[in-house]
Amino acid sequence: MEENKPLLEGIDPEIITHMTSRRETLLKATALAGAIATAPVAFGALAGTAFGQGASLPGKIVDVLNFALTLERLEDEFYRTGLSSSGLIPAETQAVFQQISKHETAHVALLSSVLGAKAGPKPTFDFTAGGAFADVFSNYQTFLAVSQALEDTGVRAYKGQAGNLKSNGKILTTALQIHSVEARHAAEVRRIRGQNGWITGDSRGNLPAPTQAVYAGEGNTTQGGASLSGLAGVSSGAVSESFDEPLTKAEVLAIAGLFIAKPAMASGKMDKKMEKKDKMDKKDKDKMDKQ
Ligand SMILES: [Fe+2]
Ligand SMILES: [Fe+2]
Repeated sequence: MEENKPLLEGIDPEIITHMTSRRETLLKATALAGAIATAPVAFGALAGTAFGQGASLPGKIVDVLNFALTLERLEDEFYRTGLSSSGLIPAETQAVFQQISKHETAHVALLSSVLGAKAGPKPTFDFTAGGAFADVFSNYQTFLAVSQALEDTGVRAYKGQAGNLKSNGKILTTALQIHSVEARHAAEVRRIRGQNGWITGDSRGNLPAPTQAVYAGEGNTTQGGASLSGLAGVSSGAVSESFDEPLTKAEVLAIAGLFIAKPAMASGKMDKKMEKKDKMDKKDKDKMDKQ
């Protein structure tokens, strides 16, 4: 419980309240409820109770949680920077981005808390992607484009890791709870940009070319081995929209890598490990498609 305190002490009490309110029922059902004096300590205790400390988690799960933490840190810093860039976000969407930013802070807090000392170092981010989005924090349209790319990536990234978390039901459940919120973020930002909430084929819509990798493979119309294109009255485009596709860790890191100035996870050893994992993920997916 103690090791969660410094982390949670730095967080806006409003976020902690939000994080803990949904767990109120569970808290009430445990002896913890009466013994806990403050919300930050309450959350720390709950995290410890529900997930255990990072040190006791299998390496495979620690890897996935660190991968998710990198993505959440990316989103968290992106919105914080956007919100502090004066004149960037117009008044009518300020509240939306303030709220999304709080969600990202909550996601980072949760993953950091679960991982404890096993949390990897925070990379240095470059939201201009080496200059491709040079005006990301001075041009609202560029900011929105990067936001959509990050959120759409997040949705596919969590989906891609579900299979790697199935040995721990509690962590899998939590990951899926974050996953659907990322989908809400994606849909909201897409709506603000005048786009549909869903993805048609592998189209990036009106996003710039460097984001195409975010949508690669989304045009798939074969599910569970059944080819669904040509269904009566349902176009291939609508079929592709009906199913979101996962991205492997390597695919996500290639996208996230655009925004990472000094990749903390890019040691040769880690690259090789991820390449191997990526091949295994693809094998599993092909197997499922054939079934
Ligand atoms: Fe998030
Ligand atoms: Fe998000």
